[in-house]
Amino acid sequence: MKKMLGLLLLSLSAVALAAPDTQWLTVDNDVLAKIRPKLNKSVQTLYSAQGASVVEMSPAEIEQLGAVIHNELHRCGGFIAHDSYEEAQTALTSQGEMYFAKQAIFADYTINQAEVVRPIVAQVAETSIRNMIIKLSDFKTRYYKSETGVQSSEFIRDSWAALSKHRSDVKVELIKHKSWAQPSIVMTIEGSNLSEEIIILGGHADSIAGMFGGMARAPGADDNASGIATITEVIRVLMENNFKPRRTIQFMGYAAEEVGLLGSKDIAASYKEKSQKVIGVMQLDMTLNKGTADKDIVMMSDFTNAAQNEFLGKLIDEYVKVSWGYSRCGYGCSDHASWTANGYPASMPFESTMEDINHKIHTPNDTLQNAGGDAKHAAKFAKLATAFVVELAN
Ligand code: BES
Ligand code: ZN
Repeated sequence: MKKMLGLLLLSLSAVALAAPDTQWLTVDNDVLAKIRPKLNKSVQTLYSAQGASVVEMSPAEIEQLGAVIHNELHRCGGFIAHDSYEEAQTALTSQGEMYFAKQAIFADYTINQAEVVRPIVAQVAETSIRNMIIKLSDFKTRYYKSETGVQSSEFIRDSWAALSKHRSDVKVELIKHKSWAQPSIVMTIEGSNLSEEIIILGGHADSIAGMFGGMARAPGADDNASGIATITEVIRVLMENNFKPRRTIQFMGYAAEEVGLLGSKDIAASYKEKSQKVIGVMQLDMTLNKGTADKDIVMMSDFTNAAQNEFLGKLIDEYVKVSWGYSRCGYGCSDHASWTANGYPASMPFESTMEDINHKIHTPNDTLQNAGGDAKHAAKFAKLATAFVVELAN
């Protein structure tokens, strides 16, 4: 008995010693099925989700796996290595989440609110958008760690509260974050009848200027005073018309986007944690500079929901009547990616294609003057966003 225990301890410590070397791979199921018969040692599937599996392998086995994939499937890679089982499983789950967020259909996209939408959209005014851009770019910087970064968030909160002061079904709050000073802003119009279903219109409230970080002047007129001013105009026309949605609408100004989507990551993760039912998210980040001659509104097709993007195209044709198309960021370039990563459907209608991007952003020269001097381009996005929230909320 004693001997057996000794053996057991010995083999346990052998496992413990071997453990730091082994890695947990996430492998596509099709790849795994083809290579399994060719491997020297059988591999056990530890977890499986969304067409991929987690397997544990030693460095030698991983090397053999790489060679088999290369020789048999004539491709490289095909798997991702992780340092722990938990990390591998999370990667699969969030990839699954991401897949779901991009491909699933979250709402009824029939357009049937023309009588409500048309008169409200007609009231969108270039001047009020322009004035808000000027006020926001007047803050020296809206950098997430700066004092003026905090003040600018309070200013947005006050502006939204003033527009909705006659409404008891509307509240405007600052959302504090643990690791930095600048709060996010959230305005909620409580739905009259399907209030647990939420539609979100958001954009980032912070600005940044290159390597100077918090010190430099960062007007961020295009990036992203324009998005916040566009959202503010949607709020203005909805409140002026005393619009009361059936579902809940939330307007968001995210803190700390420029340093890694931090504010929206916090918020989207907490919504998922609380199983909040978000049926549509629109991100407005840069609506000022008309960079592409033959396209007014350009939808980013990556990190976004395909069906909702198509719906936006139809809304443009119906209510905005300007040209539109698609482009790609190529990475999670703004807060819509935080919602997508948490399994929610998001879209990002953008001011130009990626090729025609405004090169003044993230510098002290990101000004209204350098982006055309008026907010005519942004007004198109205010019309689209108004149509989006009204059609989805009713
Ligand atoms: N507004 C930009 C994103 C952007 C820039 C979209 C150019 C399309 C074209 C956003 O504020 C930003 O700067 N994002 C960061 C990424 C983020 C993860 C820090 C960026 O693009 O570097
Ligand atoms: Zn930026």
